[in-house]
Amino acid sequence: MFSPYRCQICGETYLGSDAPDRCPYCGAHGRWMMGAAEWVKTGKVEMSEQSYEDCMKAIQLEVGNAAFYKCAQKNAQTQVTQAIFKRLQKQEAEHAELLAEMAGVEEPDLPDEDCAGNDDAQNLADAHDREQRAIQFYLQVADRAPEKRVQEVFRALADIESEHLKISNIYR
Ligand SMILES: [Fe+2]
Ligand SMILES: [Fe+2]
Repeated sequence: MFSPYRCQICGETYLGSDAPDRCPYCGAHGRWMMGAAEWVKTGKVEMSEQSYEDCMKAIQLEVGNAAFYKCAQKNAQTQVTQAIFKRLQKQEAEHAELLAEMAGVEEPDLPDEDCAGNDDAQNLADAHDREQRAIQFYLQVADRAPEKRVQEVFRALADIESEHLKISNIYR
C-alpha cells in the first residue's frame, strides 16, 4: 500500500509502497523508518554543556564534509563517483540540519571547502579519513552523553558514517 513513512532520526518523510531500506535523506537504517502515525516528535533537546559543545563541533564537521563532497561531486570523473559524492553531500547536509534542530540553533551555511579537484581516487581517500574521524568522534559523544536522544542520534550517525566509509573503500 502506498503510505507515508517518517525517519525517527532526521524527521524527513517518505511516501512509498514500502518503508525504504535506508532513510533517503539522512541514510539512517530502515529500522528507524516509522509509519507516519507511529513517529515520535523529538525536536530540541535540553542538554548538558558537554553535549551542546559536542553538537556544535559535530555540526561544523558535517557542514565541512558536505562542502567537501559538493566539491568532489562537481569534479567527479565518472557517473559512479558523481552518484556517490552527490548523495553523501546531501546526507551530510541533512546531518548538520538534524543536529542543529536537536541543539536548537540555526544551521550554518556550507563553508568554502576544498577537495582534490578531479582526482577521484584522492577524494575517496580523503572521504575515508573524514568519515573515520566522524565515526570516532560520534561514538565518543554517544558514550559520554547523558541524554538518551543524543546517544541515539550519535549512534545512528556513527552507523551511517560507517556505511559512507564502506562505500569510499569499495570504490577507491
Ligand atoms: Fe554525516
Ligand atoms: Fe558521512
